[in-house]
Amino acid sequence: RTKIAQLYADADAFDGKAVTVAGWVKSVRDMKNFGFVTVNDGSCFKDLQVVMDRSSLENYDEIAHQNVAAALVVEGALKLTPDAPQPFELAAERIRVEGPSAPDYPLQKKRATPEFLRTQQHLRPRTNLFRAVFRIRSVAAGSIHRFFQDRGFVYVHTPIITASDCEGAGEMFRVTTIDPAQVPLVSEEAAAASDGALVAGEVDWSADFFGKPASLTVSGQLNAENFAMAFGDVYTFGPTFRAENSNTARHAAEFWMVEPEIAFADLEDDMELAESMLKYVIDDVMERCPDELAMLNKFVDKGLLERLDHVASSDFARVTYTEAIDILLAAQAAGRAFEYPVEWGIDLQTEHERYLTEEHFGCPTFVIDYPAGIKAFYMRLNDDGRTVAAMDCLVPGIGEIVGGSQREERLEVLERRIAELDMDAEQYRAYLDLRRFGTCQHAGFGLGFERLVMYLTGVSNIRDVIPHPRTVGNAEF
Ligand code: 4AD
Ligand code: MG
Repeated sequence: RTKIAQLYADADAFDGKAVTVAGWVKSVRDMKNFGFVTVNDGSCFKDLQVVMDRSSLENYDEIAHQNVAAALVVEGALKLTPDAPQPFELAAERIRVEGPSAPDYPLQKKRATPEFLRTQQHLRPRTNLFRAVFRIRSVAAGSIHRFFQDRGFVYVHTPIITASDCEGAGEMFRVTTIDPAQVPLVSEEAAAASDGALVAGEVDWSADFFGKPASLTVSGQLNAENFAMAFGDVYTFGPTFRAENSNTARHAAEFWMVEPEIAFADLEDDMELAESMLKYVIDDVMERCPDELAMLNKFVDKGLLERLDHVASSDFARVTYTEAIDILLAAQAAGRAFEYPVEWGIDLQTEHERYLTEEHFGCPTFVIDYPAGIKAFYMRLNDDGRTVAAMDCLVPGIGEIVGGSQREERLEVLERRIAELDMDAEQYRAYLDLRRFGTCQHAGFGLGFERLVMYLTGVSNIRDVIPHPRTVGNAEF
């Protein structure tokens, strides 16, 4: 068996040679005495043109009647075709139908809309669009691992089931071992002892994971921090979950996050790491996926290649949150309308983020030093006492792609913040311990992997960069 990718990689070596290729039909053209079958085997974006001759192919008619998506095994001789649009073709000597395709195959038409394809999650990987997107997704994952591994980072597998709410936003999916037929109810005694937290007679979800509370992780950061204090430079890359009811084109309930954590490092180091990682992945994907990117550039986002090229070779912009608010206020004063009014202290909305990165700076932009009130408890308090050493990286077309910070390494400041936010200090005892035993400056960030894939492909809906998306109201397959 030869993969089509091997043929394209070294066509000269196969010229005139017998090869066997197994793949799926993309089109069949029957010209009576000869015919063409276009086959793709998934090994590369390009198809293979198979030529069949009625006089030499025994089952010519059987093949000529195959439907799109039929699985074939083709034996023949490779012929270079210097004068044709494709560099070579396979002159079929034998074709075996391994699995025919029924005539009601739903993806017959060349260009189905992404919305229709979302209803065909089991079949859509076979379309050009999704073959491009999901190869790029795979290659980008490899690029990320290569980037960190080459720099000596240790890959930490952080847990998916956890009790701690890293972001403190209360957006966790509960994990339960409770049999719905035998739900435990809160007793009078437990209610009385709980200071009003539990109500007698209600379902007791407080002990739902083998007697303890547990949820699906929203971020591996707190676990990664433990390892950063031992290995220095670490990263985690895995699924994370958010029970936020955001039915938008850039939020999913289940998404993958890349989270490096670096010791003896500050916010500046953190931004440098994020910028060089993004540039590395863009370069690597451009090098490894030229066919996929060319197709996306032609049919999905006409500015894609130019934008990626530009980003890979120019510096990201940097502003403080306070400066960003001034820019937005100036735009608002000059007549630019925003749905959410701008004032210092607001959480930047997608429309603000996109104005900054698309219209004002025209390139990826780091916004740093956000108000403490809108950011998570673990971010390091700045000397002004009201902002924290946070950084978000915003990119055109998407908005926030990376969120990170320098972490609060001072025990007393962190304890004060946890108390101010009315969080349960006992639950964060281990986290506070890191500040008692050899604490040091450290920083990290989370890259939303789907948002990166959207950026790399020009695809504008997160549902189209996840093999089987888990967005609001969507969990089939
Ligand atoms: O900004 P976030 O919430 O940061 C954290 O979770 C930190 N603990 C990361 C860290 O410092 N280690 O999320 C990080 C990124 C966002 O910038 C965004 O790209 C992505 O994760 N993200 C989502 N992507 C898809 N769907 C969602 N619902 C997302 N929520 C966040
Ligand atoms: Mg964020």
